[in-house]
Amino acid sequence: MKLTRIDVAAGARTYQVQIAHGLIEKLASLIDDAAPSGRRFIVSNSTVWRLHGAAVKAALPDTEAILIPDGERYKTIQTVGRIYEALIRAGADRQTTLVAVGGGVVGDIAGFAAATFLRGIAVVQVPTTLLGQVDSAVGGKVGVNHALGKNLIGSFHAPATVLIDPAVLTTLPRREFRAGLYEVVKYGMISSHDLFARVERELSELFARKPRALEPVIAECCRIKAAIVEADEREAGPRRALNFGHTVGHALEAITKYRRFRHGEAVGYGMLAASDLSERRRELAPDARQALAALITRMGPLPSVTDLSSKQIVEAMKRDKKVVAGKLHFVLPSAIGTVTTVDDVTTRQIDGALRRLGLRR
Ligand SMILES: NC(=O)c1ccc[n+]([C@@H]2O[C@H](COP(=O)([O-])OP(=O)(O)OC[C@H]3O[C@@H](n4cnc5c(N)ncnc54)[C@H](O)[C@@H]3O)[C@@H](O)[C@H]2O)c1
Ligand SMILES: [Zn+2]
Repeated sequence: MKLTRIDVAAGARTYQVQIAHGLIEKLASLIDDAAPSGRRFIVSNSTVWRLHGAAVKAALPDTEAILIPDGERYKTIQTVGRIYEALIRAGADRQTTLVAVGGGVVGDIAGFAAATFLRGIAVVQVPTTLLGQVDSAVGGKVGVNHALGKNLIGSFHAPATVLIDPAVLTTLPRREFRAGLYEVVKYGMISSHDLFARVERELSELFARKPRALEPVIAECCRIKAAIVEADEREAGPRRALNFGHTVGHALEAITKYRRFRHGEAVGYGMLAASDLSERRRELAPDARQALAALITRMGPLPSVTDLSSKQIVEAMKRDKKVVAGKLHFVLPSAIGTVTTVDDVTTRQIDGALRRLGLRR
């Protein structure tokens, strides 16, 4: 098995993202190498466990699994409480490691439980969605939702290691896979023309989950995210580039109560809006915007937005966390592979871009 390893410096420590097709079989030794020698508990959900539990269990015999219900609506402090309870009842201590096996929801919940249990125990992230593998498992952001808003409760807790097996993606529903692929396109747009071109070129191999196509793409996304979070662990400056497509994307998710879009789909629209804004401001060449639009169209249909209004979006954006000192920050592309942050986008420009996507006034 050929492992691709990417170092991520997180404050005083460095951890590795390790990627290989079939890596699940080697979980025990990879965890031994990176985590404390104490007990291990798997945290997973019912869906992932049904599909991959047997393989994980075979790789980690004698490891207890704590299963949580599947769904973003369970990404709550109550679910974290259930994990604490299982750990306390089983006599877990400071040397205990949590092994998070699942998508971004499981990773965020298990990571937050690990960040807070006994003031912090180790977590190993084993992401099983494309979004988890290219985004949420790297960077150390963990947390849960509050009834009054998404991701409002959280912490930074770097994993002991991130173990990525692209083979698990074969069971991922196509829509979930596509949702992750929009974030891959985002990495291309913010920092790598090569990655963008590779996705354009190998789109059908990626959708077919061919290891030869998937592995280098996942690795490149992890490298980009690692470089950005290293420069800026707590999101003061460069990490903002990761929010490309997210200003409008988050607003779309919020006004549809998180029910209509997968996060990545909303980011797909957000990237289109941001590149349209850039073109309007004459900061992006029209053919670059067209290349992005063409790729997003090829990736498949996005949920409709024609019943939504640009006014609702603008109001939702103003309520978002990314408003700094009353000003709306936008990450705008200046070419495929380069972005800048601006704070002088006008409501009129935004309205124009949103209406081009099909929204009402
Ligand atoms: N911490 C971060 O930096 C960060 C970054 C981005 C997103 N997130 C968070 O990630 C979450 C979204 O993650 P997600 O998109 O992975 O969603 P998810 O975790 O809900 O997974 C999507 C669905 O796929 C299922 N699934 C997972 N792996 C599977 C597999 N291999 N085969 C079949 N089904 C599988 C899940 O059970 C779920 O039903 C959000 O809560 C978001 O806030 C966190
Ligand atoms: Zn995102």
